[in-house]
Amino acid sequence: MARRTAAAAQDCRNVGELLDWAARRLQRARLHYGHGTGNAADDAAALVFHALGLGHDSAPASYRRPVDARAARRAERLILRRIAERVPSAYLTGVTWFAGHEIRVTRDVLVPRSPIAELCRRGFEPWLQASRVRRVLDIGTGSGCIAIAAAHALPRAQVDATDVSARALALARRNVRRHHLGRRVRVRRADVYTGLGARRYDVIVSNPPYVPAAEMRRLPREHRAEPRRGLQAAAGGLAVIARILEGARRHLTPDGILVVEAGNTAARVRRRWPLLPFTWLEFELGGGGVFLLHAGELPE
Ligand SMILES: C[S@@+](CC[C@H](N)C(=O)[O-])C[C@H]1O[C@@H](n2cnc3c(N)ncnc32)[C@H](O)[C@@H]1O
Repeated sequence: MARRTAAAAQDCRNVGELLDWAARRLQRARLHYGHGTGNAADDAAALVFHALGLGHDSAPASYRRPVDARAARRAERLILRRIAERVPSAYLTGVTWFAGHEIRVTRDVLVPRSPIAELCRRGFEPWLQASRVRRVLDIGTGSGCIAIAAAHALPRAQVDATDVSARALALARRNVRRHHLGRRVRVRRADVYTGLGARRYDVIVSNPPYVPAAEMRRLPREHRAEPRRGLQAAAGGLAVIARILEGARRHLTPDGILVVEAGNTAARVRRRWPLLPFTWLEFELGGGGVFLLHAGELPE
């Protein structure tokens, strides 16, 4: 049976009607999506479920649940803030999901959305044997999402999660504690490899900043709400990637792998390092611009 269309949040009698109302409002506002939700309906669900205190696993059974006026107002406030402030919905709810794990977020970190999540879920197989991975380095950990997902998928691994942002490191530490991974994920300050000593890793993984300065101005407002240091890199977006590539061989075990997201800067990466035998990964859930190199393929 088709759901009735409510004109205002307070007219919605149940969760389903509130979701429809919210999705229509977001759709009309022509927002940008892509921070963990891909369209108005998904964004509406994230905000409405949060406002009502419902778990996403309760959908669609909860669609017929009645909503009272106070709950509808809470949801309405979130939807109107999303439209007025043009920030990713995760900054309004303070929470998102990465590789199936709940991750807390603030405006101090990028909203987790890297396709590397898929690789973490698979324990980086088939590129190496997950059960043999002992050490992982996540460069530019932000919220800690990649380090946490890797630690969950690789139960025998120690993970170093690094960043240059003190605020990001503080949030990553909180997320690591919430996941009870304090013994296996070490959160510490390091500028790419500076600060890590001579440690070697089976996996070095990174979603570094890679947006060229000129492109920053053209980004949708939702992206510009994220920390600039998490997005922008000098040298046409290649500065941090260059440093990761240069030091990787020294920090990888002989059979180790390097996995780096370069996003829309992938073409520049190929042009800048034409002789490196990059494997560009494909993802079932979409996304791309992620390369993989084996230790032996990297420059000495
Ligand atoms: C694109 S964000 C990725 C955050 C998180 N890994 C994710 O996937 O959502 C890049 C992160 O790299 C950090 N960063 C920037 N320059 C860095 C550097 N030179 N060394 C280490 N981390 C750096 C930023 O502070 C930011 O948290």
